[in-house]
Amino acid sequence: MNAPIGIFDSGYGGLTVFKHIKQLMPEYDYIYLGDNARNPYGTRSFDVVYQYTLQAVEKLFSLGCELVILACNTASAKALRTIQQNDLPRIAPEKRVLGVIRPSVEEVGQISRSRHVGVLGTNGTVRSHSYFLELEKLFPDVVVNEEACPMWVPLVENHEYERPGADFYVKQHINRIMAKDAAIDTLILGCTHYPLLLGKIKQFVPANVKILEQGPLVAKKLKLYLKNHPEMDVRCAKNGKVRFYTTEAPERFKESAQIFLKEKIEVHHIIIG
Ligand code: DGL
Repeated sequence: MNAPIGIFDSGYGGLTVFKHIKQLMPEYDYIYLGDNARNPYGTRSFDVVYQYTLQAVEKLFSLGCELVILACNTASAKALRTIQQNDLPRIAPEKRVLGVIRPSVEEVGQISRSRHVGVLGTNGTVRSHSYFLELEKLFPDVVVNEEACPMWVPLVENHEYERPGADFYVKQHINRIMAKDAAIDTLILGCTHYPLLLGKIKQFVPANVKILEQGPLVAKKLKLYLKNHPEMDVRCAKNGKVRFYTTEAPERFKESAQIFLKEKIEVHHIIIG
């Protein structure tokens, strides 16, 4: 078997995760799929996010992927469990779909000293309380506060993330979450778009608070997963090839993706659903 690893996001955000995966494991083949035509997912209902994500996963399977990473918190929060429990056994029992919430929770539970943690995410992720529920399961001693930052994805998607206008919304949500619980010592950036705002986030976060970015930790956990699952690893192609697909206009994706990845890429249009 010669399967690329599928990386899925509603748009560009997953590139902040993919960048680290590619850096850590350049020898594997990858297909990145961004559902830019239908994003943002963060504002959509549970059913719609589930349906869109399942369609994307099926598309990546049809392109030859055996393992798919949902590099999107909203999709991980609203669709992953149903896909793993109900759909995979039916459509592809040998294939695997993994998300970004579980690895983030495992990491945060180990690094927080005060045991007070803050989660920043889209409306969808925060309303699902997925972080809260996972943390409660794995680390019941951790106190969790969540804050939806609905303006942050549009700031990134519209290339406003380094401009002065972004300060207002970054400061507003950081102040709000710190006001909910001043003992927070670790903040999870629970949306794959947010690392682009990291420079600004750091300006407003108290100096003692750690900011947890998902890219490096998801890459590390994926490497470990493949080491622990040699039956999946042998199915993965290792020619260092990457293909990018978007449901929107490839030119638009290319322009923005280059900002995220800092390299020139080829992008193809794809229809899903
Ligand atoms: N990047 C997605 C996430 O991690 C959110 C973007 C969207 O709302 O579509 O949650």
